[in-house]
Amino acid sequence: MPLRTERVRPLAALLPIIAVSLLAACSGDYPQTTFRPVTEFGAVINDLFAGVFWWTMLVLAVVWTVLLYVVMRYRRRPGQTPPRQTHGNAVAEILWTLGPALIVAFIAVPTIRTVFYTYREPSPDALVVDAIGHQWWWEFRYPELGVVTANQFVLPVGREVHIRLSSADVLHNFWIPRIGGKRYNYPVPVQSNVPPTKVNALTFTINEPGEYSGQCAEFCGTSHAIMRKRLLAVSPAEFDAWVERMREPAQQAAAPPAAEQTAQAGEGEAAASAQPAAAPAMASAATPAPGSLEAQGRDIFLRSTCVACHSIAGTPARGTLGPNLTGFGSRWAVGAGARPNTLENVIAWITNPQDLKPGALMPGTRTPAPNGFPATGLSDEEVRAVAAYLLSLK
Ligand code: CUA
Repeated sequence: MPLRTERVRPLAALLPIIAVSLLAACSGDYPQTTFRPVTEFGAVINDLFAGVFWWTMLVLAVVWTVLLYVVMRYRRRPGQTPPRQTHGNAVAEILWTLGPALIVAFIAVPTIRTVFYTYREPSPDALVVDAIGHQWWWEFRYPELGVVTANQFVLPVGREVHIRLSSADVLHNFWIPRIGGKRYNYPVPVQSNVPPTKVNALTFTINEPGEYSGQCAEFCGTSHAIMRKRLLAVSPAEFDAWVERMREPAQQAAAPPAAEQTAQAGEGEAAASAQPAAAPAMASAATPAPGSLEAQGRDIFLRSTCVACHSIAGTPARGTLGPNLTGFGSRWAVGAGARPNTLENVIAWITNPQDLKPGALMPGTRTPAPNGFPATGLSDEEVRAVAAYLLSLK
């Protein structure tokens, strides 16, 4: 009996390890996996990884098989004399030099091919987006479309995208794992006249609609861990509709509040111009219904120091130091991923951003920003109205 227990014990010790390995496969959703790429860019990198992985598994199998054979075949036996000793073998030495050289070549050729592929020139009709890192949030500019947004951005599937990476302050790193790639945002100004070779960039085509999350991948200060971003990949038609909503809506600011909804329901300008009598049930992007909490919030926002740093398309707010708030209500989070985008959290954010995100360069209602920008002085009622207004911006 004791002998048997001794034999079973090591196996029993292995059980938890095996169980953990198996349970690890009972995955939930891994939104930031690199193993399910949704671009050809991510696919070539994943294929390279898988290829190298299986080559190394083959090498491992060969080495372990030979090792086990040698260990068993030539193990020490009772009464055995020492075997014949060999010193120097030209054939063996050539083989164990050639073998690794071939393995390195097998890995190097596809690797270099992939490196060049991921740095290829974008096609002339690629959609250009500037992704600019800030402490601690992301700015996205679409220079050809006149759209600026922050932390959450939208791209069409099936069209090549060229993302130019830069930073407004320190080194950041752009990473959306399911897109593939992970590249530095260097503190260089991104302008259309900068040669493409001088700017870090990612060129890819998304082949699957969905929401893809990512985050800054280079330590960049206090709230580096709260520098998240989200990409919505949508059909080209949905992308065009989003651009229309986000674009400087000059006509919208002049039009009655419900112009946007009616224009979408009807067919374009004829419907929009025919609807002034329609009662605005919902607030449009830039102009909420008169008398509503959102309208109060809009007035408070526009007359407070908010406009020193923030922009909202269709309003006089033109600040560029902080995130552009156009379409804020559609974002998944407040504070670049600090909290889900709910009324309570937006109120908490405006009241004291430091509670949600240490070091955030935004003042609270009673506390100045870390860089000395004075407190906004808004009352609790004013904060609630501003939060309601911001969340109405879809
Ligand atoms: Cu930006 Cu880390």
